[in-house]
Amino acid sequence: MKTLEINGTTGRSQILVGERLHNLKKYIPSEKLIIITDTNVAKLYKKDFPKSNCIEIATGEKNKNLKTIRSIYEQLVNYEADRSAFIVGIGGGIVCDIAGFAASTFMRGLRFGFVSTTLLSQVDASVGGKNGVNFHGYKNMIGTFNQPEFVICDMTLLNTLPNREILCGFGEIAKHAFIGSNDMCEYIEDNSQKALSLDKEVISCLVYDSIVIKSNIVNMDEKEQGERKKLNFGHTFGHAIEKTTSELLHGEAISVGMVVAAKLSLIKGMLADRDVKRIVAILKSLKLPTTLTTDRERMVDAIKKDKKREGNDIDYILLDGIGNAVIQKISIHELENVIFDL
Ligand SMILES: NC(=O)c1ccc[n+]([C@@H]2O[C@H](COP(=O)([O-])OP(=O)(O)OC[C@H]3O[C@@H](n4cnc5c(N)ncnc54)[C@H](O)[C@@H]3O)[C@@H](O)[C@H]2O)c1
Ligand SMILES: [Zn+2]
Repeated sequence: MKTLEINGTTGRSQILVGERLHNLKKYIPSEKLIIITDTNVAKLYKKDFPKSNCIEIATGEKNKNLKTIRSIYEQLVNYEADRSAFIVGIGGGIVCDIAGFAASTFMRGLRFGFVSTTLLSQVDASVGGKNGVNFHGYKNMIGTFNQPEFVICDMTLLNTLPNREILCGFGEIAKHAFIGSNDMCEYIEDNSQKALSLDKEVISCLVYDSIVIKSNIVNMDEKEQGERKKLNFGHTFGHAIEKTTSELLHGEAISVGMVVAAKLSLIKGMLADRDVKRIVAILKSLKLPTTLTTDRERMVDAIKKDKKREGNDIDYILLDGIGNAVIQKISIHELENVIFDL
């Protein structure tokens, strides 16, 4: 097992890469443990949970809302949770976002930790202290910044994860490599086959390296004033894809978004043609999509409606060489050209 620390203004978080769910009890500082999980994870792993009160939520993004939070508050009251209670979210990004928000707000904040059960939540969602729910169609509109005391990343739980959910995690892993480390890109190039077959050593290494890159950025800019925006590499266009089609999952959509951002970086003279080809090859080696099969006009419309747009320019995360993300303004026109050329 390898451990990492995040020292945020909202608290300290210990990330335990390779720790096992069955050791969870070791990390619980209270007699009063309340677990929040979803119905899929409960079906597979409840037998391995330590003795506790357990709250099960329904699966899916449509349930990541205040109604679910309200029902959690009600169950916390029923379980007579007081300020001595400790909450553990066991699940993917949705469970972690919801459990973190419920814990941070109930009685002005209870202590909490996570067991991350999806690759995406291990490398992204459970690291960095953001939590919350969707509101009126806006993603993560209501939430808090608050660090979990610990995050257990148990690789063995990934064996039951559907393949496309694994690929989504690879999308965020590739993103971390592109924005933060040429060495990590080389590691993926050398080990993509093993990664796809969930080789424990390779996955542990990719999860650990991803978290190092994300946590370094989060430590510099916890509240997303500047540096943290780099984690949105591939996401502007990725979100436009997610808004206009349900064909691609998040990690797949950002994969296409990263190709768009790489091509924009080429136009700006910051990446060479061979770098763009290398990025595409890495994404393909992880079985991620790199081009669009759907309506490009609607994607451009979605970007034009993006709230981050200022006049004809959008703040975009580009690469100034592989491993080095920068924030630059690009024009809608430049973006349109790349999208229609995809
Ligand atoms: N807070 C952040 O910084 C942050 C960052 C990235 C993403 N997110 C959020 O994370 C969410 C997506 O997370 P996700 O991709 O983990 O989705 P998810 O939580 O919906 O999990 C995906 C599916 O896998 C199932 N599952 C979970 N673990 C499993 C396992 N071990 N075996 C079998 N099935 C399992 C779940 O029940 C679900 O059906 C989004 O809501 C997103 O906004 C938050
Ligand atoms: Zn993402």
